[in-house]
Amino acid sequence: MKGIILAGGTGSRLYPLTKVTNKHLLPVYDKPMIYYPLETLREAGLDNILIVSGKGHAGHFLELLGDGRELGIHLSYAVQEEPGGIAQALGLAEDFADDGKVVVMLGDNILEDSILDAAKDFEKQEKGAKIFLKQVKNPTSFGVATVSDGSITEIIEKPKTPVSDLAVIGVYMYDGEVFSLIKTLQPSKRGELEVTDLNNYYVKQGTMTFQKINGWWGDGGESFDSLLEASNLVAGKRAKQ
Ligand code: DAU
Repeated sequence: MKGIILAGGTGSRLYPLTKVTNKHLLPVYDKPMIYYPLETLREAGLDNILIVSGKGHAGHFLELLGDGRELGIHLSYAVQEEPGGIAQALGLAEDFADDGKVVVMLGDNILEDSILDAAKDFEKQEKGAKIFLKQVKNPTSFGVATVSDGSITEIIEKPKTPVSDLAVIGVYMYDGEVFSLIKTLQPSKRGELEVTDLNNYYVKQGTMTFQKINGWWGDGGESFDSLLEASNLVAGKRAKQ
């Protein structure tokens, strides 16, 4: 399987930190944010990774990470001309994926747990997709899943009145069908191709599996507080090592 990290978007919620640089290059404790999803993918055995970034800062990722050899991985790059949504950014990875299964991570997500076992399970999964859920205090900020009888029945993006506290985190495993599904998506009210609409296709097909994660999870790009929390979580983990 190949890995994909999505690092486009505007980072508007972190302005002015993101006025002259990209959100995923901001520090999270002792490393730029993008190092964390890269390490999560590498630890899961995915060493061939595509980074999709926005137009303004694509060169900065290349300067920072090069071809990936310092991290023991092989990196490729793609550019998203306009921030048209997570699913649109993923669509740019079609040639890279070459009809195979992919593991996608949002560049601002930081995960304590390893996804190695889940990746092995997904290798064996005949078709469909796999996502990860985490109990959160502020579900209105995320995609929120309803689980019934051990299956996800629906995901709602940033619901005003959430029906559960199970956030869909920014790690997604997809089969090769994902790229044809993206082509059927319509832009949402905010003008983006939504990853939640994509995931709901798999939910309706009955081919979406999921796993709850136990360790901490940070969405470093959600707010100043979440950025600070992500740094504190990493610092706490380092102190224990
Ligand atoms: O962090 C998990 C959440 O991520 C999920 O629970 C939500 O369902 C999902 O929609 C997403 O919500 P966010 O509001 O956090 O998404 P955001 O717009 O911040 O984008 C997250 C990452 O996706 C960002 O760090 C880079 C990438 N991205 C985003 C957009 C809109 C792109 O590469 N291109 C884009 O056009």
